[in-house]
Amino acid sequence: MPVGEQLRARANKFLRRYYALQDGSEGEPAKHGSRFMSVIRDGNRIKFSGPYRDADLHHPLACIHHAVHENGYQDLIIDFSECTETYPGPMLALCAELLRLRSVKVDAQLVLPKKPELARLFSNANWANLIEPRKFEPSKFRGHTQIPATQFSDPTEQNDAVNRIVNAILGGIPDIRRENFAALEWAVNELTDNVIVHSESPIGGLVQVSSFQRSTKVVEFTIADAGLGIPTTLRSGASFKGSDTDALDSAIREGVTRDKSVGQGNGLYGSYQICCHSGGAFQIESGHARLLFRPGDYGLEIRDQKVPVHGTLVIAKINFSDPDLLKEALNFSGKSYTPVDYIETKYEGIGTDVLHVRLKDEAKSFGSRVAGTPVHHKLHNLVKMCPGQPIEIDFDMVPLVSSSFADEVFGKLFVKLGPLEFMQRIRFKNVEHTVRMLIDKAISQRVTTGLGI
Ligand SMILES: Nc1ncnc2c1ncn2[C@@H]1O[C@H](COP(=O)(O)OP(=O)(O)OP(=O)(O)O)[C@@H](O)[C@H]1O
Ligand SMILES: [Mg+2]
Repeated sequence: MPVGEQLRARANKFLRRYYALQDGSEGEPAKHGSRFMSVIRDGNRIKFSGPYRDADLHHPLACIHHAVHENGYQDLIIDFSECTETYPGPMLALCAELLRLRSVKVDAQLVLPKKPELARLFSNANWANLIEPRKFEPSKFRGHTQIPATQFSDPTEQNDAVNRIVNAILGGIPDIRRENFAALEWAVNELTDNVIVHSESPIGGLVQVSSFQRSTKVVEFTIADAGLGIPTTLRSGASFKGSDTDALDSAIREGVTRDKSVGQGNGLYGSYQICCHSGGAFQIESGHARLLFRPGDYGLEIRDQKVPVHGTLVIAKINFSDPDLLKEALNFSGKSYTPVDYIETKYEGIGTDVLHVRLKDEAKSFGSRVAGTPVHHKLHNLVKMCPGQPIEIDFDMVPLVSSSFADEVFGKLFVKLGPLEFMQRIRFKNVEHTVRMLIDKAISQRVTTGLGI
């Protein structure tokens, strides 16, 4: 074995023993080049160093458990100062646990990472606010590639959260197919619905979405709750009596539900199918078990966990790179299923094939290119997703738009679609004279310069 690997193996062994001595759990230190994730408890301080990733989420939960339940601390210090990277999965598992503890009067203070971009992520993703709301404001992040972690406690909040997510995706991811969009919406809906219907979580649920567009186009959504957990609810039904690992294994199968009068057992099965078919990934952490699907040779693995997750965490990754992969993903009782989607409920009218877009609802301002980008993506997506259907854009209560907004939305759309398709598909309603002139001018200037990309 090369010397570097020998050293790493020895360090790993040492860290595992160290964790075991710390709080009786076998921590799995993550490798990060030559750096390890380490979480150390010193009294009421839980200190994170290095990367904190999807595979590392149990050890901090064990440290918190020991601090609160065995040492009686009522005020924790969650110290991320030396943390170098982290992700929504482990962060939402941590946030859900800290929110649950706050509901029983155990408080937490947050020390932000020293690394400036990571500290910014803690604010933008809303983790800082969830951990210490007295000190950190709710996230004001309005970008379209990330939707900050949102808490939902009842069906109305759940519905609002899902709509905000799908709306942001429609405006944030260019060239998305309607089947794929509908599949994503369906899965987010099902997984958040499970929190409301089954979990009995005292804090409701948390949901966060991020999209990445490097070599592949991937949307990751993470849902966490601090409720009973999948093994417990499944065992509450008459038909299942197995272990925690058996419970996760069963939960992703078609027709498995704790109670046939409540559900049909489609939600986890369908969400898992969507992620697998697309070449994405799927992870469930609940009770003493982890279920992990990764594409390629890894496949599906389900294993016991010494440290339990009190509640349920689902990390779902859908890969949109190959638009055809999702065609057959939703299949119930042998029949292909097409879910109703946001486009149908929000934009399609009854008895007409015209899509209605109220511009007033689509942007917070009409003065900048940045405000126009998601509107552009959304209109372009709608044109492509709904072939042959005209799109009527209603300017009611939009008395003015800036030239840069007009160019970003309509100038660039005109060039992308070409004059004939633009004129056939895009209709304007209630447009003030000045706005009409600005749009005309933006289009003719853009035609002369082209897209410039
Ligand atoms: N967040 C959760 N907390 C606790 N238990 C859960 C959670 N999510 C799923 N479960 C358990 O897993 C089972 C399977 O979930 P799944 O979504 O596949 O089916 P269902 O919700 O019962 O039915 P359907 O989704 O068709 O309405 C549930 O019946 C429940 O016992
Ligand atoms: Mg369900």
